[in-house]
Amino acid sequence: MRKANLRYYSSKGKAAYSDFSTFAQGRALARCNAIEFARDFSSQGEILICEYGVGNGNFAKVFLDELKSKDAQLHSRTHYFLFDLSEKMLKDARKTLSSHGSICSFERFDAASEAPSQNFDYCRINELLSDLPADIYMKSQGKITSMDSKRTTSDLFVSKFLERVDEGRAIPFNFTAEKFLSSLCLAGRPGFRIDAFDYGFYSAEGIFIHPKEEWNSIILRKYGSQVTVDLNFPQLIASLASQGIAAAIESQKDYAERVLGMPLEISETGKGLDYVKAGKGSEGIIEDDGFYYLRIGR
Ligand SMILES: C[S@@+](CC[C@H](N)C(=O)[O-])C[C@H]1O[C@@H](n2cnc3c(N)ncnc32)[C@H](O)[C@@H]1O
Repeated sequence: MRKANLRYYSSKGKAAYSDFSTFAQGRALARCNAIEFARDFSSQGEILICEYGVGNGNFAKVFLDELKSKDAQLHSRTHYFLFDLSEKMLKDARKTLSSHGSICSFERFDAASEAPSQNFDYCRINELLSDLPADIYMKSQGKITSMDSKRTTSDLFVSKFLERVDEGRAIPFNFTAEKFLSSLCLAGRPGFRIDAFDYGFYSAEGIFIHPKEEWNSIILRKYGSQVTVDLNFPQLIASLASQGIAAAIESQKDYAERVLGMPLEISETGKGLDYVKAGKGSEGIIEDDGFYYLRIGR
């Protein structure tokens, strides 16, 4: 998975967006982040923001545009670091962010193999964690084996989790994302916050709503030659809790509705996905099941 994604993103750059759509191409989530950031961080002096897996830079641009119009002083005290595996994506992001060039830095970084060293007060991530390699296990005749039956594991979280899941249902365990988040938290300055958006499952209902065969066929997906996997949010939350780090989960849509104070629905804008005022979305997309917002820290 790591090699496939390295090859894919390094060669494609922003052309990857013809294979998939993300909410970072819309405005709502980035606006919500900027509203909360301006509210909660305005009393601080110099502020460091990091974003990982930045894609074409639109998520950062909408955030910084919104911040500048809300609080130009705070914008000028902010430095925004953008990290991505793909040099091509970074080049595209640099172009997108030319109007905020003086407060942005761009750096190549592999979240699957490196530990973040840049300190931050606030960190943003959209649809990176689901691109990191995961292990997929299932219970089969009472034993735990990997999806291709070539490996087993003695990991206690995996065995406890699979005790509550039916035989033959494949469950992803995102150990690389877990490790990345743990090391990321170590780079947070006192009172840090991480806002991460991604798709996956959080509740038992989110898993069992799908018949086993359908579930097994959709948890690992290919877009073009990019490989992506559902995030096991209970695993990420349990790991953070075991390190004494506060974290909370909410559906993306609930988050956006709470911050913007209005009912919303999904819209496919042509550039990507977004949340718009209810009644104005595209026909055909009615649900956002599986998209979650993970807040870590304050
Ligand atoms: C699905 S795209 C999302 C891009 C952007 N955040 C958005 O939502 O539009 C995943 C992004 O993460 C980057 N990426 C994938 N694997 C990575 C890794 N191991 N380390 C750092 N960046 C990675 C890709 O190059 C790409 O820019």
